[in-house]
Amino acid sequence: MNDVQKPDLKNGLPLASIPDGGKLLGTVDGEEVLLMRRGTEFFAVGAYCTHYHGPLADGLVVNDEVRCPWHHACFSLRTGEALRAPALDAIQCWRVERKGDTVFVRDKLAPAGPRKTTSEHPTSVVIVGGGAAGLAAADMLRRQGYSGPVTMISADSDPPCDRPNLSKDFLAGTAQDEWIPLRAPEWYSERKIDLILNSRVTSLDTKQKKVVTADGKSYSYGALLLATGADPIKLPVEGATPSQTMYLRSFADSKAIVAKAASSKQVVVVGASFIGLEVAASLRTREVAVHVVAPEQVPMEKVLGSRVGAFVRTLHEEHGVKFHLGQTVKKVDGKKVTLSGGETIEADFIVLGVGVRPSVALAEQAGLEMDRGIVVNEYLQTSAPGVFAAGDIARWPDPHTGERIRVEHWVVAERQGQTAARNILDARERFDAVPFFWSQHYDVPINYVGHAEKWDTIDVDGDVENKDCTVRYKREGKTLAVVTIYRDLESLSAEAEMEAPLQKQ
Ligand SMILES: Cc1cc2nc3c(=O)[nH]c(=O)nc-3n(C[C@H](O)[C@H](O)[C@H](O)COP(=O)(O)OP(=O)(O)OC[C@H]3O[C@@H](n4cnc5c(N)ncnc54)[C@H](O)[C@@H]3O)c2cc1C
Ligand code: FES
Repeated sequence: MNDVQKPDLKNGLPLASIPDGGKLLGTVDGEEVLLMRRGTEFFAVGAYCTHYHGPLADGLVVNDEVRCPWHHACFSLRTGEALRAPALDAIQCWRVERKGDTVFVRDKLAPAGPRKTTSEHPTSVVIVGGGAAGLAAADMLRRQGYSGPVTMISADSDPPCDRPNLSKDFLAGTAQDEWIPLRAPEWYSERKIDLILNSRVTSLDTKQKKVVTADGKSYSYGALLLATGADPIKLPVEGATPSQTMYLRSFADSKAIVAKAASSKQVVVVGASFIGLEVAASLRTREVAVHVVAPEQVPMEKVLGSRVGAFVRTLHEEHGVKFHLGQTVKKVDGKKVTLSGGETIEADFIVLGVGVRPSVALAEQAGLEMDRGIVVNEYLQTSAPGVFAAGDIARWPDPHTGERIRVEHWVVAERQGQTAARNILDARERFDAVPFFWSQHYDVPINYVGHAEKWDTIDVDGDVENKDCTVRYKREGKTLAVVTIYRDLESLSAEAEMEAPLQKQ
């Protein structure tokens, strides 16, 4: 809809022009505003998501919430609050007035401030890790009105950053440096969040309730959140010098690849999963020739199945990526990369995207209960009192599959950080979000809701090859996960359907 067609909501609209459950995009004083009706109630909110500016008019309204079509952030229609990550900031709300058969959107409402907590404890919160889960937890502690000391200790040299962007727009050269930090420096100082960078916690004493960093500094805590994420698996490559092999986890890593790509003509990417292929796409945008080497026969088959995997391969081939599948890198000699099948490729450098391992050394040293990650209960508490864990390291009891799962998804990490923060403040809120992740390859977004490690049936609705599909991964008739391409509303509906059985309990 262009500006000429959008009604000025200040002038009022007939009630009948918005059916129950309907949405209407208009303007108020030049700003785009979304007017929604739920039964007899009307809500007017800002039209765009505070994460990446997704159009909420294309989103899903569930009860008194609106959900963003792009990465499933969720906002309260009553207060505008960002209830669920990946958006962390509220949307604007307007006052709505009904007069007879007409509805008017009036003035802007004041943003909802932090809540007043009545709980005086914990005495302090220490967060180990400056990533998705850590930042979302610190943010939520302050949003909940917690006024005690919050210290975030991070081994990174940069403040918490938009990690998914590091393999996508930033690496492709279409996002600027300023977009990458999740928060500006003053955000931490204004909220009295003590952010300590370049500092690795090396020991945890759960009896004395303190952590110690590599430089010998000790921090006592009332409650502790472990949010140490994951580290890329390092693959030794015979003959390669350290400067020839690159990994991608941090902002510094991404900047290093950008710097190398500037003077490179051809690159080998080892690994055909999400990170490897996103790197391939971004380097192609920079017009660097890319060869992908991976042991599997179909990219991403394990996660997405063979049809979607084959589509992803073709998509990359259409953009000039050359695949060498069923192979590994055998050795490197200068710029000559020899594959296990005997073929050689010239490469200026190699990017290794062969998976990650959860960073759990600290938890192991402290004797926390482990199971291919840190075991947490439904409240994200570990086996040690007052110690919580969230994000890539946490294996939690997922009520949707009935299994203990651990995933490596941005939105899950942030949502777990948010839940852990509320539970640190005694909310006793179970973590029951349906897992969600997205991946972007050129102009094609792939959205995934749910969790399916194994399935017996894949149902395809639509046309995968024409980038218009909903793919359902089922076991014994139950839908465990849904992938969509350019069907955002179906992805949101699938998430709501998966949530529904729990809400009835
Ligand atoms: C390039 C890239 C692109 C991605 N794209 C997507 C995507 O499109 N969609 C998606 O869903 N997911 C994506 N992911 C995965 C997503 O980023 C992770 O799942 C998410 O960041 C996990 O959050 P976390 O808080 O658990 O860990 P992280 O965000 O990794 O943060 C961990 C933090 O802990 C710090 N740390 C570790 N050990 C210590 C220690 N001992 N002491 C102090 N600090 C420590 C680290 O320095 C870091 O600051 C991507 C990941 C990468 C690397
Ligand atoms: S743009 Fe709305 S969740 Fe990402």
